[in-house]
Amino acid sequence: MFVKVSVLLVLLVLLAPAEAQDLNFIYNDGFTGRSGLNLSLDGIAEITPTGLLKLTNDTKLKSGHAFYPNPVTFKNSENDTAFSFSTNFVFAIRSEYTTLSAHGIAFVIAPTRGLPGALPSQYLSLFNGSNNGNFSNHVFAVELDTIQNTEFSDINENHVGIDINGLHSVQAAPAGYFDGQFKNLSLISGKEMRVWVEYDGTKKQIEVTIAPIAVATKPTTPLLSLKYDLSPILNKTMYVGFSSSTGSLFTSHYVVGWSFRMNGQAQDLIASKLPKLPSIAGKKRSMLFTFGVPLISVNLFLLVVSGVLYVIRRKRKFAEVLEDWELEYGPQRFKYKELYIATKGFREKGLLGTGGFGKVYRGLLPSSKIEIAVKRVSHESRQGMKEFVAEIASIGRLRHRNLVQLLGYCRRKGELLLVYDYMPNGSLDKYLYDQPQVTLNWSQRFKVIKGVASGLLYLHEEWEQVVIHRDVKASNVLLDGEMNGRLGDFGLARLYDHGTDPQTTHIVGTLGYLAPEHTRTGRATTSTDVFAFGAFLLEVACGKRPIKTQGPEDVILVDWVFSCWNRSNILEARDQSIGMDFVAEEVELVLKLGLLCSHSEPAARPSMRQVVQYLASDAALPEVSLLGLSSSGLTGGHRDGFDDYTLSYQSSLGNKFSHHSSYVAESALLSGGR
Ligand SMILES: *[C@@H]1O[C@H](CO)[C@@H](O)[C@H](O)[C@H]1NC(C)=O
Ligand SMILES: *[C@@H]1O[C@H](CO)[C@@H](O)[C@H](O)[C@H]1NC(C)=O
Ligand SMILES: *[C@@H]1O[C@H](CO)[C@@H](O)[C@H](O)[C@H]1NC(C)=O
Ligand SMILES: *[C@@H]1O[C@H](CO)[C@@H](O)[C@H](O)[C@H]1NC(C)=O
Ligand SMILES: *[C@@H]1O[C@H](CO)[C@@H](O)[C@H](O)[C@H]1NC(C)=O
Ligand SMILES: *[C@@H]1O[C@H](CO)[C@@H](O)[C@H](O)[C@H]1NC(C)=O
Ligand SMILES: *[C@@H]1O[C@H](CO)[C@@H](O)[C@H](O)[C@H]1NC(C)=O
Repeated sequence: MFVKVSVLLVLLVLLAPAEAQDLNFIYNDGFTGRSGLNLSLDGIAEITPTGLLKLTNDTKLKSGHAFYPNPVTFKNSENDTAFSFSTNFVFAIRSEYTTLSAHGIAFVIAPTRGLPGALPSQYLSLFNGSNNGNFSNHVFAVELDTIQNTEFSDINENHVGIDINGLHSVQAAPAGYFDGQFKNLSLISGKEMRVWVEYDGTKKQIEVTIAPIAVATKPTTPLLSLKYDLSPILNKTMYVGFSSSTGSLFTSHYVVGWSFRMNGQAQDLIASKLPKLPSIAGKKRSMLFTFGVPLISVNLFLLVVSGVLYVIRRKRKFAEVLEDWELEYGPQRFKYKELYIATKGFREKGLLGTGGFGKVYRGLLPSSKIEIAVKRVSHESRQGMKEFVAEIASIGRLRHRNLVQLLGYCRRKGELLLVYDYMPNGSLDKYLYDQPQVTLNWSQRFKVIKGVASGLLYLHEEWEQVVIHRDVKASNVLLDGEMNGRLGDFGLARLYDHGTDPQTTHIVGTLGYLAPEHTRTGRATTSTDVFAFGAFLLEVACGKRPIKTQGPEDVILVDWVFSCWNRSNILEARDQSIGMDFVAEEVELVLKLGLLCSHSEPAARPSMRQVVQYLASDAALPEVSLLGLSSSGLTGGHRDGFDDYTLSYQSSLGNKFSHHSSYVAESALLSGGR
């Protein structure tokens, strides 16, 4: 008898193929045990032993999909009008925090069973950065979104939206329902909620309604109501199902029951027949007090106390700083605990180096087995942190094969941790000076130079906004497995610029790479990056630091190269350790280009686009004498009036470089004062 009732409840009507469009199914007592009608799962989605559809399981940055296994006919062959359909389901989102969650759930109609190429986190496993918004997707979705992603113009961090081919919702509203008046709902409350999605093929009307599980019949006023013809979106046959993704917080997404009907009203789910969600942790405590207390001996009591102390200590050990405004950066945010495990507790053995901004450790992410480098940067003030994190988040979206990929960050009290791709061959400076164990031959150096130039061009001109690196130098260039040069550490200098009094702006960068106008005005520009790139070219070609303290006199590399050039033997400046196996034209090009980029007049420096063209021999380097001529014609009040304009162009150029050195000396004073 009981079996019979349950069979009735799970009634599943699949009409003859001729009327296959009138599909009608209901999963009311769990998703298990349907011969031939098991949902088609991918990613980390699973059906629990109790029959719940668990789209994601406490794992970060993962996708989960579940689709009704058979294709669903949405149009007939005679005309191209999409049929009406109706569906309702019960879902719950369980997060480790009661106020934070990691992304949401979407009901989806898609041309394929599963959405290949879709990404987790903010893409909800529906789309990716390149196909988002494209009309060729043929995807309709209703998102239950728990994070505000400004890139998709999300209205808040708790909304319901209608998505057509992309994540910029066509219509969205804060989660809630009408019951006399509007009542808010929290999607991440962990409680079960009902959702109804209906499409009227005649009126071309989409309606979405949401309510707590206790509200058994659909509220009469829908939350979303949109006039939209789905006919061009839906193909003749489509797949229906759910999609969900996690970001960087542990969250589980459940679908508890689901009902669907083509050309008719889907049956409502009966709450009492639905499989039970796991109880929310915390209820167990009352058990301890009812049964436990009388039994607790002193020993047990001590055990509990020490356990609590352990938990507190552990909590403190892994404590992080997480503020509301950071939620939108979900995918970029790592947990401290994860980084701690990845680096085996930041042990000294894994120390890769100590840079200007902090120590760098090697690690292995336990979940994805990705090798990473974690930089610990100490920061005292919270000032400017919001802007900086916004910048990290945007930097995290930079993709170029000559940039070290920033994977994300984590914040603790007084400390910021930045997570990068691990570069097996370390930083370039190790191969250049201070008696390197391994040196690079000329073709390797030239490849690194060209790579870094193209990375910097990408930052300056090819990305959606101009990014100024601010600290181009050999020690910020890392070598990947194929010895390609990759720029790292961009934007970090910015952290130290933020929040400082504009009157006393101090310059961040490295002595010897700082353009004179940068030390003077405190403003970093693409030209100041080009200046630093010039110093970088010279150090790679000469194997020397831009400034070398030697006895009482500093040796300024650019002056020395200039003097070689002045003696008509610029090749003499090259690093002797490259031996005789080099292309003279290339070495000469790099040295001259280094001088050109080191020009004290920003306007005389080439742009990175020109630099890339010169290096590729797509354009001829201007004669250096031309550079001298044009610069002697400048009327720079900035030269403090001590330049002698009657000098011949060559000595004028020479003067410019020693002038440059005087700025270097001045910035040495500035930095000495810090
Ligand atoms: C459906 O899933 C159940 C377990 O939930 C399994 O025993 C059964 O073999 C599956 N059937 C098919 C056709 O995959
Ligand atoms: C989540 O599911 C995946 C794949 O089913 C499994 O490998 C992993 O261990 C699960 N993680 C947890 C925390 O249950
Ligand atoms: C298309 O077919 C549907 C049902 O088969 C019908 O209701 C509708 O009027 C038709 N539309 C056109 C434009 O013929
Ligand atoms: C969906 O329909 C469009 C246009 O009718 C077609 O180009 C596309 O290939 C179809 N997609 C699939 C997966 O069938
Ligand atoms: C985005 O997804 C599409 C399939 O929808 C896939 O063809 C494409 O390769 C993906 N792009 C990226 C960058 O992953
Ligand atoms: C949309 O996707 C198609 C096929 O993947 C592609 O050819 C087209 O360029 C894309 N359109 C846009 C605007 O990205
Ligand atoms: C409902 O949420 C909105 C923000 O989404 C808030 O402004 C409003 O005060 C909330 N109302 C109630 C009754 O909690």
